[in-house]
Amino acid sequence: MAKSNSKKRPAPESNTAFPKKENKSMVPAKDNHSKIKPTKDADMDVMELDPSDGLIKLFTDGIKDLYWAENHLIKALPKMAKATSLKKLQQAILDHLDQTKKHVERLEQVFEILGRDPQACKCDAMEGLTKEGEGVIETTDMDTPARDLGIIMASQKVEHYEMAAYMGLIELSDSLGYEEISAILNETLTEEEDSDALLADIAASEILQKQD
Ligand SMILES: [Fe+2]
Ligand SMILES: [Fe+2]
Repeated sequence: MAKSNSKKRPAPESNTAFPKKENKSMVPAKDNHSKIKPTKDADMDVMELDPSDGLIKLFTDGIKDLYWAENHLIKALPKMAKATSLKKLQQAILDHLDQTKKHVERLEQVFEILGRDPQACKCDAMEGLTKEGEGVIETTDMDTPARDLGIIMASQKVEHYEMAAYMGLIELSDSLGYEEISAILNETLTEEEDSDALLADIAASEILQKQD
């Protein structure tokens, strides 16, 4: 009976979709994409990250998706702000609009580090989420708790989508050794989380408590 191949590629240690983090110092630069290949230690239980695995393409596609999503939000957020008469909520949305413009700039920085021109790839999820927000505005009246809470709930769905997208890309970025990019994406993730928390606070203090 033939012996099994002892050089078989080891399986990842955990059941995470992301391989163990290695080679944190490796930062992509212009024109060196094909050279990004962390060294493999045969004694370590790690997956080899090779551009041919498609992970760099997966990462770049995710950045293009977010670039479309963030640009789309720059158009959608002013409509949400205009649709509420609750000053705290309106201000929170407008402040987050300013942050969203920075999110776009940060993604442009990421493209630059990757040595690529910024490119947007339509994000169907974000289009759907903003349509839900428009639906809330169409089916509720101005100056009502239902309108304001509906806007908050729709906005939180947007933030949760962004948080999930950034978290996944940060994990992947870490695994690819894109330290500088991870730091940039983390700045935006923090702002998405803060925005989500602020929306929840406004719902609790300005709307739900007043219904008791
Ligand atoms: Fe954002
Ligand atoms: Fe956001």
